[in-house]
Amino acid sequence: ILAGIAAMAIVMAMAWSSAVTDTSGAVALDTELRIPPLAGSRIGPDGARVFDLEMRAGTADLGHGPQTRTWGVNGDYLGPTIRAARGDTVRINVDNELGETSTLHWHGMHLPAAMDGGPHQLIETGQRWAPEWTIAQPAATLWYHPHLHGATAEHVYRGIAGMFIVDEPGGPDLPSEYGVDDIPVIVQDKQFRDGQLDMSPALFAEAGVLGGDVLVNGTPAPYLEVTTERVRLRLLNASSARSYRFVVAGTATVDLIGTDGGLLERPHRVDHVQLSPGERAEIIVEVAAGTTAVLRSEPPELGLNFWTDRFSGGDDTLEILGLRAVDNLAPSPGPPPVLAAPRDLGEPATRRELTITSSSTINGRTMDMERIDETVTVGTTEIWEVRNATGDPHNFHIHDVQFQILDPEGPLQSGPKDTVYIRPGQVVRLLVRFEHYTDPATPYMFHCHLLAHEDRGLMGQFVVVEPGATATESSREHPMR
Ligand code: C2O
Ligand code: CU
Repeated sequence: ILAGIAAMAIVMAMAWSSAVTDTSGAVALDTELRIPPLAGSRIGPDGARVFDLEMRAGTADLGHGPQTRTWGVNGDYLGPTIRAARGDTVRINVDNELGETSTLHWHGMHLPAAMDGGPHQLIETGQRWAPEWTIAQPAATLWYHPHLHGATAEHVYRGIAGMFIVDEPGGPDLPSEYGVDDIPVIVQDKQFRDGQLDMSPALFAEAGVLGGDVLVNGTPAPYLEVTTERVRLRLLNASSARSYRFVVAGTATVDLIGTDGGLLERPHRVDHVQLSPGERAEIIVEVAAGTTAVLRSEPPELGLNFWTDRFSGGDDTLEILGLRAVDNLAPSPGPPPVLAAPRDLGEPATRRELTITSSSTINGRTMDMERIDETVTVGTTEIWEVRNATGDPHNFHIHDVQFQILDPEGPLQSGPKDTVYIRPGQVVRLLVRFEHYTDPATPYMFHCHLLAHEDRGLMGQFVVVEPGATATESSREHPMR
């Protein structure tokens, strides 16, 4: 333990000295972080909690003048944070005023396929879509974004995205005062051209947009005034293609408490958190009173095959968010030693192989809205063996479920996950439990969350059916012995 503390101290000292000395070209983080408003709600006559969302066009100041044309939800850029509790029945009225067809998907949510907001739940412009479901999963940091097949990257990049926080009554005592010690950190990179979002097709080619500006909650060069002993940062990588290796430089400690789908069993002291597009992490950061720490994204680790230049967008350290702690910090709860009970996803009955065969194909096939790729039996557990047979990094997201990564690489992979990074040549094994029946006409999606790849067809569809129902033939299922 002492060695660990010493190592931490050295890491911190190194990080700190680089923070002090490495000022060449560093961005001054001097714009107060915008906090997306909490979405208002009301209780409908049937007892459902009702939210109103309107997707619309607007203009926003993203650091290149006030007239940047953007999209947003109930505002000019991004959308409000939806907050609801396990057990709530929610109904979300989604009005589309964008002038074009879109969809709105609840990423990470366990819900019936017809409510999922994938490419089959189109919302024509001028129309309303009103999905309703009962939240039946633990506390988590989820998010929402469009999922129009072929245009997801563009719709998210223009600005349609927001956070969806699930609370769990009776959960552990953690910082949870929204905007005070519980902070959404939605990280996105953008490329600008003449004061506008650069939409040139070349940017959306290959792995997708790797922009020169990094925004948090739509704020350029942001800082957060830290007023409590600890702050809980809900990190969301809502970028199209860029991955981040987050570190906190300064007199600060970082405890990882949650992953995509909820809390870890216990907190882990960490020195970095790597997130590929779509992934989330909850961290508790303690910044020494009267000091400023910096959340930044570091270049690839030497010897680690994690990020290629192409994928990370270069070797630069990116300044993400200043954390300015006031002199007199108000008390706030530290992470308790136990955060969540171990999950039991059951014994796997089936092993299923999925191979990413190119930047637009899984198992050699490109996405077809009319084809069901995989058929799963409701109430069963499977192992999904996902192989990246390409020379490029990808990641892999499954709708409706929170899987467990077998052979996790570090604490970030040990919690509930819906999206996993896969190095070139790597195979990940995912333990997945399927609990929602779907009718075969309304599938769920699985896909690469590099949005340009998803749009080009690195996506497939699955249905979850009753035992014995005719399954579409799938040669890649193997009964477990
Ligand atoms: Cu975040 Cu299928 O998406
Ligand atoms: Cu990909």
